[in-house]
Amino acid sequence: MRRFTHAIIEKNLILMGVLTLITVSIGGLAQIVPLFTVDSTIERVQGIRPYTPLELAGRDIYVREGCYTCHSQMVRPFRDELERYGHYSLAAESMYDHPFQWGSKRTGPDLARVGGRYSDAWQAAHLRSPRAVVPESVMPPYAFLDRPLDYSGIAGNLRALRAVGVPYTDEMIANARADLEAQAMPDRDGSAFQGRYARARQSAFDGEGGAVTEMDALVAYLQMLGTLVQFRDVTPEQLRQQ
Ligand code: HEC
Repeated sequence: MRRFTHAIIEKNLILMGVLTLITVSIGGLAQIVPLFTVDSTIERVQGIRPYTPLELAGRDIYVREGCYTCHSQMVRPFRDELERYGHYSLAAESMYDHPFQWGSKRTGPDLARVGGRYSDAWQAAHLRSPRAVVPESVMPPYAFLDRPLDYSGIAGNLRALRAVGVPYTDEMIANARADLEAQAMPDRDGSAFQGRYARARQSAFDGEGGAVTEMDALVAYLQMLGTLVQFRDVTPEQLRQQ
């Protein structure tokens, strides 16, 4: 009887096709369905917050300039990586990245934890002329970033990210321009800004006062990479669930 049924399937191309499709889609569903609950599969980790408006503008420059073609932003859980870069990357650390910058090409080092490794002055000097500080570098110079940053649309950027799930509040969106300026101008009162974005640092990131530049934004972004999670705050349980 069983042999008989199988013969029917083998001789009927359409029936065989449909049954094959059903079989294959079971495997697909097993991979895809869990993603619909992605809100709960990424464990919340203390310290993770959305980017400040200035960091976000810097991230957009990072993407625009194609820095990801030479730099990854994901420390893999291998011993050589941990010794060179620090703790391996957590899913939560890129949960507000749209799109994420994990990358797969490392002409230069991984940047997931570069924040705070160098001074602002080093970062700006390196971007203006990498070979001035690292003589053997093959990284191209980005001195043109010392031009004013166009942040007229920054509130809209925050609003768009909120639409895809980044928890920007109405207050953050309403103050986006003021917060961006406050972060790049350390002489401004930053208490309201600091209240909205924990552990955000105010600085003249490009080393010069005056107008906010693209350099300010990019350095602010680089300097916060990998600095949000204090690893002593993360419990082993949270790490296991990553
Ligand atoms: C053609 C490949 C290439 C591109 C494009 C590139 N870089 Fe690099 N980058 C390198 C290399 C190689 C190094 C290592 C030598 C050095 O420090 O200059 C490096 C080093 C760095 C470092 C220092 C990292 C460390 O841990 O020492 C930073 C920060 C950096 N790059 C940022 C950027 C940013 C931001 C951009 C985009 C504006 C960018 N890079 C574009 C190749 C590149």
